[in-house]
Amino acid sequence: MTSEPRMRTAYIYMQLQGTAEAPGNWVTAGRMQLRPSMPGSPGMGDFQYAPSYVAAGHTLALDPINLPVPDADHRYAAPRYGGLIDAVRDACPDSWGRQLLLRAGHIGPHATDFEVALASQNSDRWGALMLGTHKRPSSAHAQQPALARLDELLTEIQLLERFQPPANASLRKQLLERASGGGARPKVTLRDGRTWWIAKPLARDDTLDIPVLEHASLQLANAVGLRTAESRLLTVRDGQVILVKRFDRDGNQRLLCLSAASLMQVTYPWVAGSILGSYGELADAMRRIGCPAEDLVELWLRAAFNVVIGNDDDHPRNHAVVFDTATQRWRLSPAFDLVPNAYSHPKQLAMPLLPGDLLLTGSPAGNGQHWRRFLQDGDVMTGSITGLGTQVVRCVAQPTEAAE
Ligand SMILES: Nc1ncnc2c1ncn2[C@@H]1O[C@H](COP(=O)(O)OP(=O)(O)OP(=O)(O)O)[C@@H](O)[C@H]1O
Ligand SMILES: [Mg+2]
Repeated sequence: MTSEPRMRTAYIYMQLQGTAEAPGNWVTAGRMQLRPSMPGSPGMGDFQYAPSYVAAGHTLALDPINLPVPDADHRYAAPRYGGLIDAVRDACPDSWGRQLLLRAGHIGPHATDFEVALASQNSDRWGALMLGTHKRPSSAHAQQPALARLDELLTEIQLLERFQPPANASLRKQLLERASGGGARPKVTLRDGRTWWIAKPLARDDTLDIPVLEHASLQLANAVGLRTAESRLLTVRDGQVILVKRFDRDGNQRLLCLSAASLMQVTYPWVAGSILGSYGELADAMRRIGCPAEDLVELWLRAAFNVVIGNDDDHPRNHAVVFDTATQRWRLSPAFDLVPNAYSHPKQLAMPLLPGDLLLTGSPAGNGQHWRRFLQDGDVMTGSITGLGTQVVRCVAQPTEAAE
């Protein structure tokens, strides 16, 4: 006898954002359903905002592109990730975390994204969302290990990577079960008072010191004026580890985040036939959700920085936006995971700049000061880029108040 495929349901809880909506409270924001489909295929899902969320007057969309209007009567289709909504996929483990969940026996080798989402822990989950199978959010959040345990945790990660028995069985269990952080490299989240850090050690197969390269790149980016996640480099016994401050946490408050993959509606990790996304498309999406112009300039500078340092791992899950409660606007997150390709000179970025993408360039304020020669009414500036063309700009003086 074969069993009928079941409809699967999961509830999505969100920690309220900002002072206007009583921060700190968890509410049920909506429900995801995965419809049964052909045996062997992952099924397709949808999402509906919870009537209680809408009735309480909450207007903040979990995802302003894919789930833009909190309206309990509307079912949003989830066309990617086997029916899992994009915002939840952003808050799920990638290959590192999946490997741990598999070893813990929480998922099988062919687990769907929906199964991975439910198997991974809420305590470490990215952004302000949690999920579960009960209508009401649970207040039981597992504690994150303290920064003081870094040394022990790194030992355990090293042993795990080498398939060796644990040095500390309970720590091993915590590591295996807390696997909801994204990314491919080994990592663990640690808490130090109000601050949350992601610790990323040298991986077993690294032939170069990637933590040092990542820290140096973040420092360099910061030195040239980019907005970066704070990082520290620590030496723990025989190796270096980078600590990167989490921008989606502020003490016990979790901040709503969304990846560039979700913003551009692309599947990442890419699957056959999926669209890559590009800096131009990301800029368009950021404009649509109301990011300020300075964030678009910052994005362009990050693309240029990635070209300069040879970081071709600038994929759509390495860019994100965060909801800023003070201004009630989505903002480009601090830059993170900046690592030059250590093995070759990349010829292209993971997220390309495409023909038709508009690059706006200009001269910094004060340019010309050196020659005591400033632009005047009637001056003509000619700029050329080989192979691209020439742009001619004629200067016209703006009337000042005094002159009027
Ligand atoms: N400073 C941070 N604050 C909040 N979230 C972060 C931060 N850095 C990374 N993340 C989240 O964790 C995920 C994994 O982190 P990160 O990109 O640093 O890991 P990785 O293993 O090097 O990734 P990759 O697979 O791209 O090499 C990111 O995609 C992002 O969602
Ligand atoms: Mg990454």
